Amino acid sequence: MGTGVDRIKGASAPSAVESWRSPRLKASGEIPSLSPQRYPEPDPIPRSLDHDLTMNPAQPRRAFLATVAAATAATVLPWTGCKPSEGGAAGAAGADTIKVGEFCSLTGTEATFGVSSHEGTVLAIEEINKAGGVLGKQLQLLHEDNRSTAGESVTIVKKFISRDKVVAVLGEVASGRSLEAGPVCQAAGIPMISPSSTNPKVTEVGDCVFRVCFTDPFQGRLIAEFARKSLKLSRVAVFSDVSSAYGDGLRQYFSDAFTAAGGQIVVQQKYSSKDKDFKAQLTAIKATNPEGICVPGYYNEVGLIVKQARELGITVPMFGGDGWEAPELIQIAGGEALKNTYYSTHFSPIQDTPEAKLFVAAYKARYQGKTPDAMAALGYDSAKVLADAIRRAGSAEPAKIKAALVTTDLVAASGRTRMDAQRNAPKAAVIITVENGQFKFVQTVEP
Ligand code: PHE
Repeated sequence: MGTGVDRIKGASAPSAVESWRSPRLKASGEIPSLSPQRYPEPDPIPRSLDHDLTMNPAQPRRAFLATVAAATAATVLPWTGCKPSEGGAAGAAGADTIKVGEFCSLTGTEATFGVSSHEGTVLAIEEINKAGGVLGKQLQLLHEDNRSTAGESVTIVKKFISRDKVVAVLGEVASGRSLEAGPVCQAAGIPMISPSSTNPKVTEVGDCVFRVCFTDPFQGRLIAEFARKSLKLSRVAVFSDVSSAYGDGLRQYFSDAFTAAGGQIVVQQKYSSKDKDFKAQLTAIKATNPEGICVPGYYNEVGLIVKQARELGITVPMFGGDGWEAPELIQIAGGEALKNTYYSTHFSPIQDTPEAKLFVAAYKARYQGKTPDAMAALGYDSAKVLADAIRRAGSAEPAKIKAALVTTDLVAASGRTRMDAQRNAPKAAVIITVENGQFKFVQTVEP
């Protein structure tokens, strides 16, 4: 992606569209196995802790670039990550490290989200540590897989806090699981940063819960405006995942905004996570003859829905939000079925900022040429935002980190992250389409 990169702002001309394909994509149309890909284990903790890279809050961009440059110039990328099972009892790593816990979906239905996000987080931690760590200490990332399952995250986060004595928690991608862990962190006074959970309730849990991404009221509105203005749709169907906080919330925000913009929702149909056959609902949708179908949900079901809709002869535009973002979407639905589909997300790998370019290059170098997606960028940014807060706080005490997070102003992979009064990060969104079996950048939408 090095040459011919689009400028991210206002780059809406179709001729300027660039496309990418993840190396994870297989040529076949079958549903992929969702086990995470394995990469070389990071090196152990380096001993040299003699310098601390201080972030100047007035110049977040310059400081960020210095950190990345220092890290990427190195031949070795030390990382202190280990699973809690390898990490031993509380304090085992000694006072030389600052422990951070990451709960993530490395296996199970949303594995692609969790793996990407985790890879971004690991890369950021490695860069931070290579550049000297924070306050003279290395960050130690403990991570544990919740298998994309309800209930697991609470147990994991409780262990991080009581056994491992982490100073902060990173996670999760899916709103439902961030909503589970948030109250645990809040009760313990431990700051939690979700990289990419967009449901507004996630940060409503309390003042310990932050996110580095936009929220679904914004995302619902931008999808509605795109459908009204760019696709010129008036009558649409909504087919939503009612089993996830994310899908159900986005359905509401999209529907409200689309109606407010003068559009009409002609029919609403529902499905649940893990459903495989959507033909009954799609047949009911087809009978109402909509001009488009909004599908707020995650890629597994969305892929099958788009495929089955096309099989039923439904050719109208289909669209949704960031839950669509996964290379597996193309594997499941097939490139042909995904013609005339659109989704909004947080980041595109052709984003033309110095920070995004450095991040894409570093990620590709670290993960065997793989192109990063939005979850990777936000996973990366969540760790950078945390490290920045610890530096500015001058302390790794959770209460001080929490106070410093409020005044975050850092430019990193996904753009500039600042916290609004609700600890959300208003940011631009990008709209992506699929052409010839490849993702293509369509336009940027500012908040
Ligand atoms: N925003 C989704 C949620 O809240 C998760 C997600 C983030 C999915 C980024 C894809 C990309 O559940």
